[in-house]
Amino acid sequence: MAEIEYKKFIEEKVSEIKKLVGTEKVVSAMSGGVDSAAATVLAHNAIGNNLSAFFIDTGFMRLNEYENVVNSMKDHNIKINLIDAKEEFFSALKGITDPEEKRKAFRNIFYSVFGNVLKQEKASYLVQGTIKADVIETKAKVKTQHNVLEQIGINPKLYGLKIIEPLKELYKDEVRNVAKELGLPKTIYERMPFPGPGLSIKVIGEATKERINIVRKATYIVEQELKDLRPFQAFAVLMNDKATGLKNNERNYGNIIIIRAVESKNAMTAKPTQISFNILQKLGKRITSEMPEVVRVAYEITAKPPATIEYE
Ligand code: XMP
Repeated sequence: MAEIEYKKFIEEKVSEIKKLVGTEKVVSAMSGGVDSAAATVLAHNAIGNNLSAFFIDTGFMRLNEYENVVNSMKDHNIKINLIDAKEEFFSALKGITDPEEKRKAFRNIFYSVFGNVLKQEKASYLVQGTIKADVIETKAKVKTQHNVLEQIGINPKLYGLKIIEPLKELYKDEVRNVAKELGLPKTIYERMPFPGPGLSIKVIGEATKERINIVRKATYIVEQELKDLRPFQAFAVLMNDKATGLKNNERNYGNIIIIRAVESKNAMTAKPTQISFNILQKLGKRITSEMPEVVRVAYEITAKPPATIEYE
């Protein structure tokens, strides 16, 4: 898209949503990222209290995520309802190790849960923050993004849904400008992307509760330690293999964590972040000392392409 006039874009989207929805009720899927926050505020500006926002705790969220989401929406007077669907998500992904199968299972349970929320709320539409890169990558079969249905020929009616995606023509950097223009806090419009399937695609292999807890702790440490570098994205990945380490002079066969940090404009291409060796060493020491279940930490140096940003 050429130069966007963000004020005009917002006005157009607000009036489109108003016209489409009329007096019907709408539910928004609010994950805490800039895309869903901007989509939620656009819908709220269009229809006010006929919009209810829901945060689903999938079990694959980062530490303190619900509190972060609630705080980010305070100034807009948008209440975020919490749905604890951890058990549904863990059981939907149980035993699945193939990345695409995991993503499809996640997508299926994600839309099933929202189908139920719409029924319960007597709502007609679901608003979600799908952006252009999500659609392009799913259509190109790079990977199945959790929030793309219609564009690949799946009718949302299967889940009892009609979907509104006000940001689907924009890339991440453009969505950040919309979010800023909407008055969202800096912590949101500058926030690192975090994929919908969350930590489930940051463990290679099965997403068990135990493995998710490991990657959640490591993610927290990576985000804290790399915060000042302000990378486009930074996170931890848990490998499927184990490796030999030492603890009190004894063999310690434990987990391997990869640190991934990238620079990018819109997630379509990316370069590894140049991190000083001192910071990397500190990270490695912190992860292995705070997490005795981890014996090795490595930093990944591949660009996109040939790699993608996430491992799965
Ligand atoms: P990849 O790994 O394909 O990711 O280089 C590109 C960007 O998309 C994010 N991502 C997702 N976002 N649902 C999302 O909302 C998903 O299923 C999904 N998969 C990847 C990824 O974090 C990166 O910013």
